Amino acid sequence: MSAFRICVVGCGNMALTGHGPAYRKYASEHADTVLAGCCDLDRAKAERFRNEFGFERAYTDYRTMLDELHPDVVCLLSPVQYTCELAVEILKKGYAVLLEKPPGRNTEEISRILSQAQEAGVSVRSAFNRRYTPLVMKLRQLMKGERILNITYQMYRRNRRDADFSTTAIHAIDAVKHIAGCEYESVDFLYQNLPEHGGQVANIYMTARMENGSVAQLTLVPMGGTTVERVTVNTDRASYFAELPFWSNPDCPGRVRRMAGNEVTDDIPGDRLVDECTPFEESGFYEENRSFFEQLRNNAPVHCDLQAAIQPVEIADCIRRRIARYEK
Ligand SMILES: NC(=O)c1ccc[n+]([C@@H]2O[C@H](COP(=O)([O-])OP(=O)(O)OC[C@H]3O[C@@H](n4cnc5c(N)ncnc54)[C@H](O)[C@@H]3O)[C@@H](O)[C@H]2O)c1
Repeated sequence: MSAFRICVVGCGNMALTGHGPAYRKYASEHADTVLAGCCDLDRAKAERFRNEFGFERAYTDYRTMLDELHPDVVCLLSPVQYTCELAVEILKKGYAVLLEKPPGRNTEEISRILSQAQEAGVSVRSAFNRRYTPLVMKLRQLMKGERILNITYQMYRRNRRDADFSTTAIHAIDAVKHIAGCEYESVDFLYQNLPEHGGQVANIYMTARMENGSVAQLTLVPMGGTTVERVTVNTDRASYFAELPFWSNPDCPGRVRRMAGNEVTDDIPGDRLVDECTPFEESGFYEENRSFFEQLRNNAPVHCDLQAAIQPVEIADCIRRRIARYEK
């Protein structure tokens, strides 16, 4: 097999903490991987990333990088407001793209990316890392074949005064859809405005009816007391409790438990599911990159998971616009 060449656009926080370590590990396990180029508008950031993770060349213009290096995949880790324009341009050039969430701020943006991917006939993955978090994968495996009755998802953060928390909330919205294995039928939203922390700051409560008849409750709290993400699922046979690890939060390395009657039938700590207890493995960054790269290297049919992301983008946009009810 010929060399597999990776290029990165955007060398900021997520690149340094989540993705860069994943590329380094992937390259150490696949000798024919070439960490070809990284690009940031800020030369110092591009150089720092190149040095830290062993990329061959650093750029400040992604077009020049792509024209010179012709990579097999482009990882787009830019700020939300530029994702759509950059993704469309890169896809137009015919490169497969893994793009950081959200894959658009509204349906118009995600539709533009999706149409361009279809026109260019290349693979795209939206980096919703909860889908690839080893404990979430294990939870889904344990529940297989059981009928889901309800899901609760608690996303708590501390001191998050973001003007637009919907771009973080979309993780929980997508994760619930992924765990339920179906789309949302309707959602009622309640906003607890916290103007003392800034004009747009609000805790968000969602009650959703899912298409498979289950009910989901999401509590999305930017101004909580700690940083955790916890999921509870009741099925027709058992109750599941998952504590997800990320960024060294108090639940690290996390665990998932299955209880049926008075018994704990499964109790799986997160550290059993990863090689090393590092945020980039525990939180799914490694697996989301690794599995996408493997698809591309094995010439798997063109795959685009953006269709499945349209509804999470629509629902996150409801939060942005403080809509009270969503119906599919
Ligand atoms: N998966 C997660 O848990 C998670 C968490 C936070 C953020 N994110 C997502 O990650 C993405 C990046 O967030 P971040 O926190 O790293 O932001 P950041 O601002 O730290 O980094 C983004 C970098 O992109 C660079 N950039 C902007 N336009 C560019 C261009 N045209 N060419 C090259 N570089 C360009 C900026 O200079 C900046 O260094 C966002 O889409 C965000 O939603 C994901």
